[in-house]
Amino acid sequence: MTDLTSLAANAPKAELHLHIEGSFEPELMFEMARRNAVDLPFNSVEEIRAAYDFSNLQEFLDIYYQGMSVLLQEQDFYDLTWAYLTRAAADNVIHAEIFFDPQGHLVRGVTFADAVGGIARALGDAQTQLGISSKLIMCFLRHLGEEEALKTWEQAQPFLSLIDGVGLDSSEVGHPPSKFKAVFAKARKAGLHLVAHAGEEGPPAYVWEALDDLQIERVDHGNRALEDAALVKQLAAKGMCLTVCPLSNLKLCVIDDMQNHPIPAMLAAGLKPCINSDDPSYFGGYVNDNFAALISSLPLSRADIEQLLRNSFDGSFMDETDKQAALAKLDDYLVSAP
Ligand code: HPA
Ligand code: ZN
Repeated sequence: MTDLTSLAANAPKAELHLHIEGSFEPELMFEMARRNAVDLPFNSVEEIRAAYDFSNLQEFLDIYYQGMSVLLQEQDFYDLTWAYLTRAAADNVIHAEIFFDPQGHLVRGVTFADAVGGIARALGDAQTQLGISSKLIMCFLRHLGEEEALKTWEQAQPFLSLIDGVGLDSSEVGHPPSKFKAVFAKARKAGLHLVAHAGEEGPPAYVWEALDDLQIERVDHGNRALEDAALVKQLAAKGMCLTVCPLSNLKLCVIDDMQNHPIPAMLAAGLKPCINSDDPSYFGGYVNDNFAALISSLPLSRADIEQLLRNSFDGSFMDETDKQAALAKLDDYLVSAP
């Protein structure tokens, strides 16, 4: 490991862009398929891994929705979430903001209570047993449209005490943020945090819409914002955090080579990116693997790595006291790290 790779690996950090269903390792998927008597169109863990070869977002999503079909019971959601949290702890994640896709489960007859209940129970155990704090963000599947999102919002009402924010994910192109203005307004009125995937495959106009129409507090991905100088200026002026996912970008062909990853350009433009794993089981690595991939391909400085680590807490939805405590912990680490 290079010095910077171990500096990043050993640092306390937050992960702010993680789809819990995208942390589903094939071994656990097979075990759950067996115990729930669900047929998977694969015969082995090796066959599943071999299928993880994508040329765009949609090819990944097709397999991602298939994978989550084995999640049926509350305990399944607990086990999936617990597996991620123990893995994240090994990467020194001390705060995680986790997405889940309720519509991907409700459509299969899973109850909202079982999905959110299992996830929230694991998050509670992570606080007491692993020292990981967390927030839970419910994402709307943009390809299903706003009517469906509004129905999901209604179904979520009894569980709002377990949910900290709403997001927008799934197939981006053709499903602009402006379509989801009403449901985001409801979530805003209920006091929830607001984020949206934008500028992953979609144009800068979608990032503008996410800012102006949805009033998001954080951009998920945001790579293509760099194509619009006025947008870059606006994101920098707002101090808006971008939850960037390097290995995801490579796997989904958002970039052609890690050497061309926009992280250096984002930092140079005064933006506030942080590093995340997105769907680690599908994209070849957890958060420290994402740092390692960037560091081995790009001329990043120690100051850049420190900035990326600070941004992970700064862009989080931790309350101010917890945020300052986490930043102080990171600073203590950085002053004493070689
Ligand atoms: N983009 C959009 N939707 C998703 C992603 C992503 O990277 N991962 C899971 N759902
Ligand atoms: Zn994502």
